[in-house]
Amino acid sequence: MLDQTPTSTAPLTGRWVGLGVAAAGLAVAVAVLLLGVTGALAPFTPAIFDPGVLVRYGLPITRTLHDLSAAAVIGLLVVGTFFLPPESVRRASVLEGIRLRVVRAGAVVARCWFVLALAVALLTAGDATGSGLSTPGFLTLASSFWTQTELGQTLVAICVGAALAAIAATVAKTVVGSAWAAALAVVTLVPLSLGGHAAGSVDHGNAVDSLLLHLVGVCLWVGGLAALLWTARALGPRLPVVAHRYSTLAGWCFVGVAVSGTVNAYLRLGSLSNLATTYGLLVVGKITALVLLGVAGWLHRRATLPGLTAGPPKNHWFARLATVEILVMAATMGLAVALSRSAPPVEPNAPDPATALLGYPPPPPFSFSNWMTVSYPSVLWLSVVALMMGLYVAGVVKLTRRGIRWPVLRTVLWLTGCLLLVFLTSGGPAVYGRMSFSAHMIQHMSLMVPAPLLLVGGAPVTLAMRALTPRADKSFGPRELVLALAHSRFLGVIGQPVVAAVILNGSLIVFYYTSLFQLAMFTHLGHVLMTVHFLLAGYLFIWSLVGIDPGPKRPSYPIRLVILLITMAFHAVFGLSLMGSAALIAPDWWHALGQTDDAALLVDQQLGGGIAWGAGDLPAFLIGLALVVQWVRSDARETKRWDRQAARDDDAELKAYNERLAAMAQRDRKR
Ligand code: HEM
Repeated sequence: MLDQTPTSTAPLTGRWVGLGVAAAGLAVAVAVLLLGVTGALAPFTPAIFDPGVLVRYGLPITRTLHDLSAAAVIGLLVVGTFFLPPESVRRASVLEGIRLRVVRAGAVVARCWFVLALAVALLTAGDATGSGLSTPGFLTLASSFWTQTELGQTLVAICVGAALAAIAATVAKTVVGSAWAAALAVVTLVPLSLGGHAAGSVDHGNAVDSLLLHLVGVCLWVGGLAALLWTARALGPRLPVVAHRYSTLAGWCFVGVAVSGTVNAYLRLGSLSNLATTYGLLVVGKITALVLLGVAGWLHRRATLPGLTAGPPKNHWFARLATVEILVMAATMGLAVALSRSAPPVEPNAPDPATALLGYPPPPPFSFSNWMTVSYPSVLWLSVVALMMGLYVAGVVKLTRRGIRWPVLRTVLWLTGCLLLVFLTSGGPAVYGRMSFSAHMIQHMSLMVPAPLLLVGGAPVTLAMRALTPRADKSFGPRELVLALAHSRFLGVIGQPVVAAVILNGSLIVFYYTSLFQLAMFTHLGHVLMTVHFLLAGYLFIWSLVGIDPGPKRPSYPIRLVILLITMAFHAVFGLSLMGSAALIAPDWWHALGQTDDAALLVDQQLGGGIAWGAGDLPAFLIGLALVVQWVRSDARETKRWDRQAARDDDAELKAYNERLAAMAQRDRKR
């Protein structure tokens, strides 16, 4: 059993604050220097649009500090919640000692993040409107910028997110509470990725998604290392375990940052020949920094981490190398801000309105072969599915190595479900799903039923429970997180088939009979959330009926069958209502795509209704079949259990029952 000496007594040294200030100073210096060299700090021309020196210099400086504080908040909350050991095994879920101090430090930095986010919102309003902060009426101008423009709205959302993360980290008392604070901080990176160059680019969707993945990777990597360095001395003998946990995360972040950064850079550069442009040279600078950081990571794995268990001076190498790393990362973040404020060589404006709206050129006319062959690779979904497949296969390999058999059928179902998800989010269904209502309905129905049906069959939670090892020091690791989610009260409620059915069916009405559908078509974030919602709502419903994975106590099989039949009936009514509809859904979207023949659009919408009605039948039949098979099997298991019991106690239950019957007969005869 690991030594559980409490860490609360060990001081969290202030000397790292010095390093923090030095790193921030270096990052700001690099950003200002590079922007100075590229001319991005020069007064705007014509002068009437120049917001003044305060905005021109203030924005990149606050932006750099903003990004650094976001990374520090995420690093402190993630390390404090998922990497550090509890003070005592008996109170493993309670935030105490060093974990509490790290999470509270995260709350303090989150407050700084909030203030910096306010400053960035203010200075960006000046930058975007070309007016200085002291210009008369600036606040009126700024408030319409914050409320009317997508960029303004994302900046306000970042302020709200940072404030919520600060509150959550301030009040958290358990690791579940601080996990929610960490999740809030990571989610706040979503509006951050919607701003900047990503907003205006041709391939808008992938630009935003790759920047989001990039920011998440950077914040976990940089913030995690800063938090680890800050707690290193206080951790004492526990540092090697925690450092190894961070090293695993750092490895994933290195790959994620490299891939997402390269994708994002390529979208802006358009071709490798543009590497010679100002923007291109800044990208080369970042690649160089990444290589240096990769070498440092390699040295950690080869020398400093193994050296941590050795006495001084060997165990000091970790802190020294990590200090250099933090400074390189800080400089790179300064370089990144300079990059985000330098004009990319690729002309951001799309050749036509439809391409600007879709983020890709409109596909050829719909045909089955085109539907099966056209594609628009989605960086986000390809990354998510790669992770889903990679983690699942790694889990199966781990079990197999331990000599534990995992049903091949489950693996086949999961991997097939993943491949279907790739097709639905990067193939014809996704490409045509934005071009016509009927094609959209095919994608929607497939995301809601066949794909989750296959994934539910893969029983991922059961696999995770078996493959992941519980943390010896009772800290809150991946297995503990999955367990907490699977047994959460929230899942206990929404995992009830009736509730899951209401979510599934209710969202159809809410989505198609409000402006939500049009919003999801016009906005990238809306479109991603729509896809996530359909997939999860379908997964929840199917899992609540026939899932193998652990979950809340389910109603009996007949009840579940009834719920399935009611849901099928509801889908039929919903489909029929669309088939009979005379009002066009999301007219502005189709018109914006240049499709102005409303009669033809209505016919296509009615076809979509037919698809909604019909497409659900076959998978629903399969779910029904799975339910009946499970019912029969559970009956057989019950019978076997009874038989075993009868064999063990010489059929005591039947005998008691017959005696009760005989007694009743006796009583009746006497009356
Ligand atoms: C292969 C290496 C890398 C490449 C190609 C790359 C590329 C990019 C690109 C193209 C952007 C978007 C800039 C824009 O809006 O135009 C970006 C943003 C960013 N990158 Fe990287 N990056 C790399 C490595 C890193 C590393 C190692 C770090 C930090 C340690 C980092 C931190 C950031 C940050 C913080 C932003 C957001 C800047 C902002 O908008 O405020 N990147 N990166």
